[in-house]
Amino acid sequence: MNLVIGVGLRSGTPYAELSDLVTSALHDLTGNVHLVVTRKGRETEPALQQLVEQLGAELRILSTDELADQPAPTPSIQVEDLTGTPSVAEAAVLAVGAQLVVTKQQSANATVAVGRLPAPGYQPAEREIVHRVIAERRDVRRGFLDVPIDDALLTRVLEAAHRAPSVGLSQPWDFLVIRDLATRRKVHDLATAQRDAFAASLPDDRRAAFDGLKIEAILDTPMNIAVTCDPGRGGRHVLGRHADPRTTWFSAAIAIQNLWLAARAEGLGVGWVSFFEPAEVAGVLDLPAHIELVGYLCIGYVDEFAAAPELVRSGWAKRRPLAWAIHHEEWGRRDASIVDDALQAGQNAVPASGQRVRVIVGGDATQLDEADALVVDLHADKPRADFGVLWRPARTPAEAVEFGVEIARDLALQGVGQLVVQLAEESECAEALARGLKVGASACGLTHSTP
Ligand SMILES: Cc1cc2nc3c(=O)[nH]c(=O)nc-3n(C[C@H](O)[C@H](O)[C@H](O)COP(=O)(O)O)c2cc1C
Repeated sequence: MNLVIGVGLRSGTPYAELSDLVTSALHDLTGNVHLVVTRKGRETEPALQQLVEQLGAELRILSTDELADQPAPTPSIQVEDLTGTPSVAEAAVLAVGAQLVVTKQQSANATVAVGRLPAPGYQPAEREIVHRVIAERRDVRRGFLDVPIDDALLTRVLEAAHRAPSVGLSQPWDFLVIRDLATRRKVHDLATAQRDAFAASLPDDRRAAFDGLKIEAILDTPMNIAVTCDPGRGGRHVLGRHADPRTTWFSAAIAIQNLWLAARAEGLGVGWVSFFEPAEVAGVLDLPAHIELVGYLCIGYVDEFAAAPELVRSGWAKRRPLAWAIHHEEWGRRDASIVDDALQAGQNAVPASGQRVRVIVGGDATQLDEADALVVDLHADKPRADFGVLWRPARTPAEAVEFGVEIARDLALQGVGQLVVQLAEESECAEALARGLKVGASACGLTHSTP
């Protein structure tokens, strides 16, 4: 336990008296005292100074006003008359943000209370570094330098990955380090084929934007790493996996994030390529059949790390505001109602330009005739997986409005500039969702029309 002691004492209190009082207050507790807190004016008391030294603790001094504000459980009128605060020892513990675990203990000349502090975090400058590496990690696809990666550095980066949390400590990942050009060429061919397939699936205007994007650096980097997952690692009874097997893949993905952050700290750029049918890559890499590909990473030194994601800089996509992602207690309860928020945003929205999407509210995958169509399926039964179908079984019309707003907002983040909304179902929820789409569209500056 990280303990704190609050001390009140008269001038000239003998050390033995204070020490005995502290010993008895700490009697049932295990842990170390890191902090001793007292009232301003008492910091020069020899008994207190000796106590602090004996404990190897930090001494903190608080003003009477800081102490007087605390809701101490054992206040005293006499203490208030003498010092100006109804509590010193308990108030001192509470004032440093600790939880009181031993209320006021008293001797002839001193009072002592004990509190428990949370385990300490990092110092502000250290925290700053953590947040900095998180913010400045980038997916890098261009600007790689022909500079080899030192083995010791690679080991440090892989150690970071290997320290990732994993379900039941199953550590389901492995790292296949690939430098061989012939292998990388084969993997590159697979990515090129998938790039072409994706381009062909896009509406014309979106395809033109996609043509300008670089989506991999397989041959531009000296090293690729295939991060794999063994779904059976650890045998039958891996703790925490039985009810949700996805946790194995989550664990491997977290290892990649650790690798990504550690690489950034070392000045190494990492680009994750997912333009693959995973089994095809597994074939090229000749993986055992039970090993699955999770992520394919291109790694190397780069000439710079961009301040913002490449997809943002190119105008392909935008970041989603944090406030949209936080719900309190129940789904949809955000700091501001999504509908009110959108209505307000609609008043100052800047017109957006971008791709046209025809949203078919109601209906199903059979209506996905053109590349710009997007079906919103409102049925209770989950449809077959298809990225062209958004399954939104709204429970109430109010929820349907919110879903509509959300769909429009999220489409706007993915480069959509025009919504054409088509009702394919006559129901209260379908109409409500279409209304939500309209509100969301105007909030984001999208044009909105009906066919
Ligand atoms: C699972 C996953 C797969 C990704 N696949 C690709 C990819 O195939 N090609 C690509 O250029 N970027 C890919 N990225 C990178 C994302 O586009 C990138 O993380 C996102 O745009 C945010 O940019 P940032 O990582 O620089 O912050 C992938 C990222 C993740 C997490």
